[in-house]
Amino acid sequence: MTMWLPNLEGRRGPVYRRIADAIDEEVQRGTLRAGARLPPHRDMADHLGVTVTTVTRAYTEAARRGLISGHVGRGTFIRGHELEGESTGGGPIDLSINILMPDKEVAALEPRMFQRRVLSWTELLGYVPTPGHRRHRQAMAEWLAMTGTPASPDRIVLTMGAQHALLVALMATVKPGDTVLTEELTYSGMKDLGAQLHVKFRGIAMDAEGMRVDALEAACRSTKARILYCMPRLQNPTSAVMSERRRRQVAALAEKYRLTVIEDDVYGFLSPERSSLSALIPDRTIFATSVSKSLFPGIRLGCVVGSPAMVEKLTAAVWTTTICVPPISGDLLCGWMEDGTAARILEWKRHEVAARQGMAKRLLDGYRAQTHPSSPHMWLHLPARWTTDAFAAEMRSRGVIVNASTAFSVGDEGAPRAIRLCLGTPRTRAGLEQALARIAEALAGRTMAARAVV
Ligand SMILES: Cc1ncc(COP(=O)(O)O)c(C=O)c1O
Repeated sequence: MTMWLPNLEGRRGPVYRRIADAIDEEVQRGTLRAGARLPPHRDMADHLGVTVTTVTRAYTEAARRGLISGHVGRGTFIRGHELEGESTGGGPIDLSINILMPDKEVAALEPRMFQRRVLSWTELLGYVPTPGHRRHRQAMAEWLAMTGTPASPDRIVLTMGAQHALLVALMATVKPGDTVLTEELTYSGMKDLGAQLHVKFRGIAMDAEGMRVDALEAACRSTKARILYCMPRLQNPTSAVMSERRRRQVAALAEKYRLTVIEDDVYGFLSPERSSLSALIPDRTIFATSVSKSLFPGIRLGCVVGSPAMVEKLTAAVWTTTICVPPISGDLLCGWMEDGTAARILEWKRHEVAARQGMAKRLLDGYRAQTHPSSPHMWLHLPARWTTDAFAAEMRSRGVIVNASTAFSVGDEGAPRAIRLCLGTPRTRAGLEQALARIAEALAGRTMAARAVV
């Protein structure tokens, strides 16, 4: 059996890190699969002409990144992922949650987490003003500018993620029984909020650019609704992106019918359209976003941006629901903005999403999919012989979890025969490839290919 050896050519940094980087890369590529055995320390040291201590350090680093595990007497092995059964033939591969975790950055961040602080520990462990500490709102403003939506810190109110941002936006604008206009396929979390707050949704017909202007105007006339919720940049679930022309038309209608627009921009950082709807009608918009998709969801940091009058109402809603956002989250953002981590992760995500989109395009070639080269998800139309629920169940039995269209549809038309696939959830491209291959097999009506046992 040939021994796997890392290729260190062209890598920079200390040798131990170069070895760990090589392992990392091969795991991402899928050439080193879960269960694969790495060479014993001494063998690798001899072949690379380095000391055993260097190899031990490299393996320790790879273990810290979650790539390998060692068993005394049995050797060192590539780890499987708990989150998905990829490569191990184990649990299901989940394509139902929009998340893209930069594992390498996480590993690099771990040892220096909280080393760089803007506020003192006393401040971090106390309450801060409800809209957020000034320094944290400033960092958020810089982050928004980097992702296409410059905003003054005075207009920013921090929230615990975008779900909370949407909640406070609704609290500030609607009362039970009101109607909210939205794309006919919309974010399921917004539907959940509407149900809690007893508001009704009216779905607006869509085309390739998102909501249609004629349908929006008709709904404004017939419902007298005053609130519009939409996602102009990389809509969830369809990935539609509004052109500048469409944004201007929607903005004009918002002025004409005196709508308040809740603009959800969580995927805007990936969008080729660099500007938001809120840039056209800042005083009519509550701009809602978070760093969940662009950086990490676990720090639960987001914001709403509004007119000065709206900021007061939004602040009251944040106070009611949480008093203030944990300042530790804002401090982390400050540190990552300052030391370049945020910019690096942004770049990595843009690159990784594009690569995964390329893979999806290749593997699902020939099927009707709505997406965008820079979108983290894909809306896949199913052939007529499938119902959505039957296909989702079939995929579950093949070890892949997908979202059925019912989660997103609004209105009486009935959900289309389609599913949403989140391309970022599998931790490796190899995992995604496996999931997409299984979907293609099911669409083609093929039985499951025999899976290798490792
Ligand atoms: C369109 C949209 N808005 C808001 C959210 C909520 O994001 P957060 O995790 O920041 O609460 C999501 C999460 O998937 C989303 O897809």
